[in-house]
Amino acid sequence: MNRYDLAGRTAIVTGGAGGIGRAIASAFIASGAHVCLWDRNETALAAAVSDLGSAAEQRVLDITDAAAVEAAARDCHARWGRIDILVNNAGILGEVKPVWETDPENFRRVLEVNLFGAYLVTRAVVGLMRGQEARPMRGHVVNVASIQGKEGMPRAGAYSASKAGLIALTKTVAKETAEEAISVTCITPAAAETSMAKEITSERRAEILARIPMRRFVEVEEIARLVLWLSSDDCSFSTGGIFDISGGRATY
Ligand SMILES: NC(=O)c1ccc[n+]([C@@H]2O[C@H](COP(=O)([O-])OP(=O)(O)OC[C@H]3O[C@@H](n4cnc5c(N)ncnc54)[C@H](O)[C@@H]3O)[C@@H](O)[C@H]2O)c1
Repeated sequence: MNRYDLAGRTAIVTGGAGGIGRAIASAFIASGAHVCLWDRNETALAAAVSDLGSAAEQRVLDITDAAAVEAAARDCHARWGRIDILVNNAGILGEVKPVWETDPENFRRVLEVNLFGAYLVTRAVVGLMRGQEARPMRGHVVNVASIQGKEGMPRAGAYSASKAGLIALTKTVAKETAEEAISVTCITPAAAETSMAKEITSERRAEILARIPMRRFVEVEEIARLVLWLSSDDCSFSTGGIFDISGGRATY
């Protein structure tokens, strides 16, 4: 397998205590990077950092708290001198109900975490990346959206809308930074076996599986390998791209 050299790079992975975030952090560390895991779940975060070893550090924060996000970005930048990689991965699923049965507060919170939170983190970190030396890249941003953001999904209105918004935010920030040696990309995974997948019923699970032509869930390590490439300088002419990893569910 090809290997990516991230020696000396600093990465922030939001939602780093969860299944996908932890796998991404592990792939970064195996490639030589130092990783700051940002998550609001203090217990899971401590466990993740202890598993990942000395190249991982933690920051307990809620990504919807603008002041906390700005302070964390500043601290990370001051400590490491630069932030090479940002993965906007923190997210929540919310209710699984048709839109007319949903609770407006739940809808608002899903948008707040998955879209507004990613915006706050991007705003803080890309602002700092822009001032860094290009070598040759100033930075890479990878957003973790979902196949549901491309296609919509019955009984996941807030989640699908939030991920569609994240896809549009990716394309926008990519155009804003295209001349600044910062790549901004997005991935759209199908379902993975993380704590998020454990929130759904067996019927919902079967419904999701039936939509995936490969007839299986994606492994978190498969997602991590795609993010690894997008976060490396080998990804030098793809910005604004939305990268499918859905086992054939989307062919676009
Ligand atoms: N698991 C799937 O089937 C699947 C499929 C496609 C996309 N995704 C996306 O992948 C990302 C990671 O999900 P996962 O499957 O690893 O789920 P997960 O629940 O294991 O991890 C999500 C992490 O985000 C953290 N988080 C949630 N809200 C936060 C907030 N406000 N501030 C800080 N941290 C917060 C949680 O504490 C958790 O550790 C999410 O954005 C999710 O939407 C997941």
